[in-house]
Amino acid sequence: MRDGAEAQPERAPRGRARAAREGSRVAAGPLLPARAARRGAGRAGGTCSSAAARPAARPAPRAAASPCTSPAKAIRAIDSRSVHRICSGQVVLSLGTAVKELVENSLDAGATNIDIKLKDHGTELIEVSDNGGGVEEENFEGLTLKHYTSKIQDFSDLVHVETFGFRGEALSSLCALSDVTIFTCHKSAKVGTRLVFDHNGKITQKTPYPRQQGTTVNIQQLFYTLPVRHKEFQRNIKKEYAKMVQILQAYCIISKGVRINCTNQVGQGKKSSVVSTTGSPSLKENIGAVFGQKQLQSLIPFVQLPPNEAVCEEYGLNATDMPQNLYR
Ligand SMILES: Nc1ncnc2c1ncn2[C@@H]1O[C@H](COP(=O)(O)OP(=O)(O)OP(=O)(O)O)[C@@H](O)[C@H]1O
Ligand SMILES: [Mg+2]
Repeated sequence: MRDGAEAQPERAPRGRARAAREGSRVAAGPLLPARAARRGAGRAGGTCSSAAARPAARPAPRAAASPCTSPAKAIRAIDSRSVHRICSGQVVLSLGTAVKELVENSLDAGATNIDIKLKDHGTELIEVSDNGGGVEEENFEGLTLKHYTSKIQDFSDLVHVETFGFRGEALSSLCALSDVTIFTCHKSAKVGTRLVFDHNGKITQKTPYPRQQGTTVNIQQLFYTLPVRHKEFQRNIKKEYAKMVQILQAYCIISKGVRINCTNQVGQGKKSSVVSTTGSPSLKENIGAVFGQKQLQSLIPFVQLPPNEAVCEEYGLNATDMPQNLYR
């Protein structure tokens, strides 16, 4: 479930104060925003930062700093579009999160076949296609709106959630951070539809598009609406890509009966395989597909034993209700 992943958010590398400015929830805390620091340094006196006007070789001792004389700034609400853009960078933190969100949506839609296409390691394009249930026409408008979801209606539904997603903010965040086009064909539809979205998740183009049942989400230029994050993303793409592959491998292993195939194409070069599984119903076979058949030899089978009477009594369990064959 996502909750587990959320409990341990990916850490922004040290010193990423500028990226934090654009909404990285991890590094935002105690860091001085670079712009504020620059602004202070640019003014020679008359502000809180009069120390900045002194020669760099002789920094003033802290206690000698003059008191702040500038009037307090008014506290005002940030406009809702800016809030949306900033907060979207807190939902989709990295390449790994973007791919994870799309794969989770495909799994939630009941797909048994998921294709992930990356161009230039995901900086140019991330495209996830599935053969799931597709999206019905009446849901097109809500598909990419903030907190619109088909998975829960109110808080009490959370107890019964069995899907990966439920917050209704992944697609809306991706719209705020990139150019999003979705191709979908619901099982009840005769023909598919191509939908182009703006950064607020509103449909700007809607045209018929022939495709089989399922959905394709096409994300171009992830993070380009947050220029500083975008630069950091491109600069760190090797690390981002490596993390994304790890996340994808984990989903490949746990997704029994789902064929997952991911490729990457650099420039006009040949597509290379990143990871692929065969849709096997066995966890072990998925591990073999991801890490190679040889690795299976070094695995020790995990045997699931029913809890004994004392354990059942202590924890109020009923041995017959316990899930079976969790590690098959
Ligand atoms: N691949 C897909 N196939 C079918 N429906 C989809 C697909 N992707 C998204 N949807 C629909 O769009 C809705 C919004 O997706 P989104 O990922 O933004 O939110 P969510 O999955 O409900 O919650 P979360 O933000 O926690 O992932 C989903 O509830 C689902 O109904
Ligand atoms: Mg989702």
